[in-house]
Amino acid sequence: MSYYKGVLVTIEGGDGSGKSTHVELLKSYLDSKGISFFATREPGGTDFSEAVRALTKDTRFSDKSEISELLLFEAARADIVKKRVIPALERGDVVLMDRFFDSTTAYQSFGRGIPREVVDNANSIATYGIKPDITFYMRIEPQVAFERRGGVDLNDAMEIAGMEFHKRVMQGFDQIAKENPDRFVIVDTTQSIDNVFQKIVSNFEKCWSKHNKEGK
Ligand code: TYD
Repeated sequence: MSYYKGVLVTIEGGDGSGKSTHVELLKSYLDSKGISFFATREPGGTDFSEAVRALTKDTRFSDKSEISELLLFEAARADIVKKRVIPALERGDVVLMDRFFDSTTAYQSFGRGIPREVVDNANSIATYGIKPDITFYMRIEPQVAFERRGGVDLNDAMEIAGMEFHKRVMQGFDQIAKENPDRFVIVDTTQSIDNVFQKIVSNFEKCWSKHNKEGK
């Protein structure tokens, strides 16, 4: 749980899991309910973090060391967390993040093979210790995601990492979900968009009303 008045909602999952569609739907839903929110993506969200994002995707540097990659994601993270996420949580807003530190655990530890404790430490530094109240894990088999997207974006350093890499990432998310049953909601993305979104909204509403009852 966060220590702030607001609620931190994260959406996680592999590339091509339909995350972005549901982030947009959730934003419209929050608007329609008059709930004040701040939405962002990772890496990104500030000028600095967007510049770092471009670096992470740049295929000229796809041979960079895996620790350099880890530190890029963490550098982008620390900026958005300090400047936007924590202030929004302090105001009592809902913060909606398209990816957060679980992505780093899945991609950089399970995917790239950096020891878990190294990634956990880096995550705790860059997040200033905050954790999501609820995490929607959009689960998809990498092969299905690949077919859905109609192939791989050859201009994206993460997407060209290969099927075995993306399988390890999915196993990583499965493991993280198992370790955090209190905040993880596993969403079966083979269902229709309507069904998937129903599940997201009903779980968000439970989390939101519990939070409001606790009077944080
Ligand atoms: P993006 O285009 O946002 O992909 P998606 O729509 O699937 O979220 O690119 C973000 C990429 O960066 C994605 O491949 C996952 C990767 N990533 C990491 O490897 N580590 C991280 O900590 C984060 C936040 C993202």
